Amino acid sequence: MDSIVVRGGKSLSGKIEIAGAKNAALTLMPATLLSDEPLTLTNTPRLSDIKTMTLLLESLGAEISSLQDGKVQTMSCHGTINTTADYDIVRKMRASNLVLGPLLAREGHAIVSLPGGCAIGARPMDIHTDGLAKMGAEIDLKDGYLHAKANGGTLKGAVIDFPFASVGATENIMMAATLAKGTTVINNAAREPEIVDLADCLRKMGAQIDGDGTSSITIQGVDRLHGATHPVVTDRIELGTYMLAPVIAGGEVECLGGRMSLVASFAEKLDQAGVLVEETTTGLKVKLKGDRPKAVDVTTEPFPGFPTDLQAQMMAMLCFADGTSVLEEKIFENRFMHAPELVRMGAEIDVQGGTATVTGVEKMKGAPVMATDLRASVSLILAGLKAEGETQVNRVYHLDRGYEDVAGKLGGVGADIERVPGS
Ligand code: UD1
Repeated sequence: MDSIVVRGGKSLSGKIEIAGAKNAALTLMPATLLSDEPLTLTNTPRLSDIKTMTLLLESLGAEISSLQDGKVQTMSCHGTINTTADYDIVRKMRASNLVLGPLLAREGHAIVSLPGGCAIGARPMDIHTDGLAKMGAEIDLKDGYLHAKANGGTLKGAVIDFPFASVGATENIMMAATLAKGTTVINNAAREPEIVDLADCLRKMGAQIDGDGTSSITIQGVDRLHGATHPVVTDRIELGTYMLAPVIAGGEVECLGGRMSLVASFAEKLDQAGVLVEETTTGLKVKLKGDRPKAVDVTTEPFPGFPTDLQAQMMAMLCFADGTSVLEEKIFENRFMHAPELVRMGAEIDVQGGTATVTGVEKMKGAPVMATDLRASVSLILAGLKAEGETQVNRVYHLDRGYEDVAGKLGGVGADIERVPGS
């Protein structure tokens, strides 16, 4: 299995191109199930999660062709389709559950395996299924599969109050509601930029959606959706990750394609930590003002709050900060698995339940480390940019799920980093 080797101590300088958002592409792709006509996505990131979604959609009967090495994907789903999403594919990625709403809307029935995904918490699907039930679906769990059927063959509009602003449930219900009879209102909806991107794409396909980006979304069902071409929004998590690289390693990096509106709460924390973030016409330029970042407290929240998907990377930075920081994880119950690995590199971190207290140290030392999820893996690479000696990050398949060519991107701005093929 491949690993990434980082030798710390190099200051960074230059530009890093930020890719299209993994989490947007993973919800835009299943939207193809809502139409007989082709949907073309541009700015698609080249990631293993995208390959998994491609396989899943192909297994349902979609024809998918790609150009520019996968950056442009055209998906077409005409005629009869298969309505069973098989465990063998779904288990690889939780976002596979995003075919449930579109399948149910298109065919009136679907059988979808319960997903797997990162080992960062229980991640049930009750908010998705309760919402679909309000729209007239009957859903049973049999042998690990959700068997869903729309009463009378068609979903009906409903007012749905989410107990929590779930990103995936908002996306699933929004897609299902585009073809339902009548009006659906989602209250306490998620407000993430990926939701707005999905709504933009669905509107291009002919859907009637209002209020995306706020906590109440209204969808007026239509008879059919047509084809469209849509560029995937910039990946704010990849953006935030690379914004931290010069803060940890030293130097100045411009993240091309970055916009402040995508990372406002994160940039506010960087500002408090003594980091200069400047919006240019092409992206976001980042550098640390002093020698060390200052300690800051962080609590993860749904958008527009601080993203849970940047918590591990922020912790890597706070390991080197001047002072003690408290990180509170409010979205997932088991998301500090990077902490013991950072401790092996010399960090001082005390985890108690959903709270991690990080006492900054001036120096850390490279070590062989591994992580059990995507964002945790990249946090170890970030720490390795500054740690003395060599850090070897194993289990690179986690990284490949969400980061396109990490070694190439960080190497391009001066980091001493390479991907070492496994035996
Ligand atoms: C999405 C993102 C993921 C990010 C997360 C939170 C994608 C593909 N993934 O995941 O990277 O970390 O948002 O920003 O977009 N929950 C329930 N019942 C449900 C659904 C969720 O209890 O039916 C809970 C989850 O266990 C979790 C919390 O709600 O504790 C957030 O989950 P949700 O917002 O649904 O995240 P995902 O859509 O899975």
